Amino acid sequence: MSTLLVTGGAGFIGANFVRHALEHTDHDVIVLDKLTYAGNLASLEGLPADRFRFVRGDIADAAVVGELVAELAPATDAIVHFAAESHNDNSLEGPRAFLDTNVVGTFTLIEAARQRDLRFHHISTDEVYGDLELDDPAKFTELTAYRPSSPYSSTKAASDLLVAAWVRSFGLRATISGCSNNYGPYQHVEKFIPRQITNVLRGQRPKLYGTGRNVRDWIHVDDHNSAVLAILDHGRIGETYLIGANGERDNLDVVETILELLGQPRDAYDLVSDRPGHDLRYAIDATKLHAETGWTPRYTDFRDGLARTIEWYRANEAWWAPQKDATEARYAEIGR
Ligand code: NAD
Ligand code: TYD
Repeated sequence: MSTLLVTGGAGFIGANFVRHALEHTDHDVIVLDKLTYAGNLASLEGLPADRFRFVRGDIADAAVVGELVAELAPATDAIVHFAAESHNDNSLEGPRAFLDTNVVGTFTLIEAARQRDLRFHHISTDEVYGDLELDDPAKFTELTAYRPSSPYSSTKAASDLLVAAWVRSFGLRATISGCSNNYGPYQHVEKFIPRQITNVLRGQRPKLYGTGRNVRDWIHVDDHNSAVLAILDHGRIGETYLIGANGERDNLDVVETILELLGQPRDAYDLVSDRPGHDLRYAIDATKLHAETGWTPRYTDFRDGLARTIEWYRANEAWWAPQKDATEARYAEIGR
């Protein structure tokens, strides 16, 4: 029996990870989360009190982090670091919080981890590599040069480089994973897929940025999280693993599929102004992850995964309704 300290465990991927780990492993879990606008305790309801504990706090607060890591046992326990400011649009409006959490927060955690010689896994993103042309046959690999575009992706890139340097300079026992765009339950309605699903459920039209031709490589959140567990078990210290499930689709295609699954005309969407600096395409080559850990994705049919996600949002309006008006008011201010 060992304990995972999960940062950002009240957010979208972190909450799904906590549920997944409690269900599929015998780890105990402690969540450290600041509960920003993106954190939601309702995402962690119903978890077993004998294996799960929630601590509210900031990953950039060395005292809070120090107290928690003092509880962990270096031989068996690990820190799994999801906490971040995660939304590109917000990073364009107010980058400061991205530096504080993504850079200083990660620094605070790796300092604490190295002082106690704790295993550390850093959750990153394919966005550190910038973007690809639509017709580029290449996909991102672990060897692709870093070329981040936004305050979000540049602060994630900075945090990756800190982790890599702490491995080399201080012997931090760390791995890094870079995943493509996730979808699934408990995702904040500011993000693309839940924004469009909840718009349609409320009788409003989906909003596509620009031409709708930007491509994302969609992966179900449970597949991301099973890959993280595989890396914790089988990943080599100091290595980066890209996580993806061959889910490339353009945004227009995703919106048309959501409309169709919800019984609406496929063209019942609005084109709105584009995001400044909008990355064109992301695509992941996950060969290294498959080869070294044996991981494979479960949700290989995007349409089916999307249909299940739509059902989750339909059944859980009480979870998302409190976020919806404030989120749309923020989008209205920036004209998107
Ligand atoms: P999210 O915004 O839904 O959740 C982030 C969580 O971190 C929230 O619970 C928030 O309260 C918490 N948090 C923020 N600042 C904090 C701080 N200073 N101290 C403690 N907690 C803090 O994000 P997400 O979509 O779940 O993403 C989780 C991680 O996965 C991030 O590191 C992100 O970069 C990465 N990632 C996300 C995606 C995606 O598609 N969403 C894809 C690849 C990688
Ligand atoms: P998003 O979920 O913000 O993720 P990321 O920027 O990290 O890829 O957006 C996914 C894609 O959807 C991206 O190309 C921007 C686009 N988008 C829209 O077209 N409309 C929207 O309302 C939002 C939020 C995003």
